[in-house]
Amino acid sequence: MTGADGPPVEWLAAADDGVRADAHRLVAAVMELGGAVGWLGVPSRAETDEWLAGVLGSVAAGRCRVGVLRPGGGAGRIEAIGRWSWYDKPTVAVNAEILQLMVHPAARGRRLARVLLAALVADARAHGVETLTLDVRGNNHAAMALYERAGFEVYGRLPDFVGVGAERWDRVLYRLDLRKGDYPVRRHGSRPVGAGSSTVRPSVRHRTGPGSALAGPPDGP
Ligand SMILES: CC(C)(COP(=O)(O)OP(=O)(O)OC[C@H]1O[C@@H](n2cnc3c(N)ncnc32)[C@H](O)[C@@H]1OP(=O)(O)O)[C@@H](O)C(=O)NCCC(=O)NCCS
Repeated sequence: MTGADGPPVEWLAAADDGVRADAHRLVAAVMELGGAVGWLGVPSRAETDEWLAGVLGSVAAGRCRVGVLRPGGGAGRIEAIGRWSWYDKPTVAVNAEILQLMVHPAARGRRLARVLLAALVADARAHGVETLTLDVRGNNHAAMALYERAGFEVYGRLPDFVGVGAERWDRVLYRLDLRKGDYPVRRHGSRPVGAGSSTVRPSVRHRTGPGSALAGPPDGP
């Protein structure tokens, strides 16, 4: 797949030594700046090799897709990486999440993230993903701007949920609904109908308003 106004996105299925070295260079540079991509510190080459092997194992199992960008062309270095991954839990397995999207600090501001994110979203849609989710550390405003520009909407926030040492930040939760209006499913939202439903005894009063379990049905039909 080719980004609309950028370099072609390459879908990674295997990693030779060059790819492993590029992945380490990229992750290490992002983490040297304290990047919010899942590590607590700068990982060693052995740690990024193990991480990449795990990710590619997931690709081989059909559980995720990894996109990379080499702005210098086919033989150039990988400057951006990101992936979407199906949810594992069977009852939510029609959905997927965007994980660990990152651009090398020296290559930022050139729309690489925008191109890669657009390709990940298009690819997830083509694979039948219904809703894409992702989460962002509450202090990562560049990432929030990126996702909001791509159409993601905030659906929740876990206050001071991300912990690094003695510091805490919100986890901001984003979603992008990829379903079309005529999607052939019955949407019940939070109504107590269908498999797994239960009702409350008349003597029990639900809280109402924001944060209530009785939030209305989702947007759409
Ligand atoms: C967030 C990140 C991926 C953006 O990469 P990038 O290649 O510089 O982003 P792009 O140049 O493609 O910018 C795309 C859009 O993102 C937004 N954006 C990116 N950086 C921004 C910044 N510093 N300030 C404001 N908006 C920003 C803008 O909306 C921008 O579009 P626009 O310039 O047309 O308005 C990059 O900063 C990064 O790797 N950060 C560390 C890892 C990380 O936090 N990943 C996200 C984890 S949830």
